[in-house]
Amino acid sequence: MPRSLLILGAGYLGAAIAERAIAADEDVTLADNWFATERAQAEAVEGARVVDCDIRFADQVEALFAQPFDRVIFTAAQASRPLSFSDPDYTEQTNLVGARLVAQAATSPIVYASSLHVYGGGLTGAVGADRPYGEQGDLSHLSKIYAELVLKMEARRRELPLSLLRLGIVYGPSPIEHDRPESVTVVDKFRKLAAAGERLTLDDGGHATIGVVHVEDAARIFHEATDEVANVAAETITVGDVAALAEHRQPAGGATWTVESPFAYHHSVAEYLA
Ligand SMILES: NC(=O)c1ccc[n+]([C@@H]2O[C@H](COP(=O)([O-])OP(=O)(O)OC[C@H]3O[C@@H](n4cnc5c(N)ncnc54)[C@H](O)[C@@H]3O)[C@@H](O)[C@H]2O)c1
Repeated sequence: MPRSLLILGAGYLGAAIAERAIAADEDVTLADNWFATERAQAEAVEGARVVDCDIRFADQVEALFAQPFDRVIFTAAQASRPLSFSDPDYTEQTNLVGARLVAQAATSPIVYASSLHVYGGGLTGAVGADRPYGEQGDLSHLSKIYAELVLKMEARRRELPLSLLRLGIVYGPSPIEHDRPESVTVVDKFRKLAAAGERLTLDDGGHATIGVVHVEDAARIFHEATDEVANVAAETITVGDVAALAEHRQPAGGATWTVESPFAYHHSVAEYLA
């Protein structure tokens, strides 16, 4: 029997994981409420079963989990920072209530897509997964802390393996990509703008340091995860250096922190933007 995998959240990362799992002959279900992704985009992922589920509603989550899965990869969220300001209610309903409902309904190991943002801003030094949670600036990232803790509480209660994987900014091609400006992250945004010969504008002089990971590396790590709390980022870089690489200039360096991650990475931003 092929392993059955539920990917809850048929978005940018979910689709890349689906593609990998399908290539490994797994029985893949992609579930979403089509908030940020169109159903037709998920249907175009060949070999996946596509189902509707809005995680804000208990009856829909229970119906989804009525069928047992060997594993669940949970990437569904209102992930956009700007949208968390314009629609805080939707963000909370999805990221808090939704996370609790999934935590309560799941009966198999879960891999959750969290964020390096849980550590807060102003980071220095080598940041490992033992770094405490930090101050938050928006609901989409604040909610990751609640989701991590509620998933942990329910997994502990029912002795289910749980992976909490804290992603840096993900870049690179996936079977599902979003065009909305609020959904395009900085590496791919700068890559496209620079290729079109447009000027890159930097907030705060581009001094902010970000963790970054290629979607192929992220999808492999999520697909293989078993039971771990870990960072998923290959490297850290300043936003100014992302711009420099996109414009084929020499990066200045100056990242204020480095990321500790136990995984192997096959891609780098410099190679991607070269
Ligand atoms: N992409 C990144 O750079 C990045 C960085 C850090 C963390 N993350 C986290 O990884 C996860 C996946 O990110 P992504 O880039 O694939 O985002 P995405 O927006 O492409 O995918 C999230 C999916 O969740 C779905 N969704 C939204 N509300 C829902 C609801 N109520 N019920 C069911 N589905 C719902 C959306 O329609 C979308 O398809 C998110 O939790 C995100 O916060 C992503």
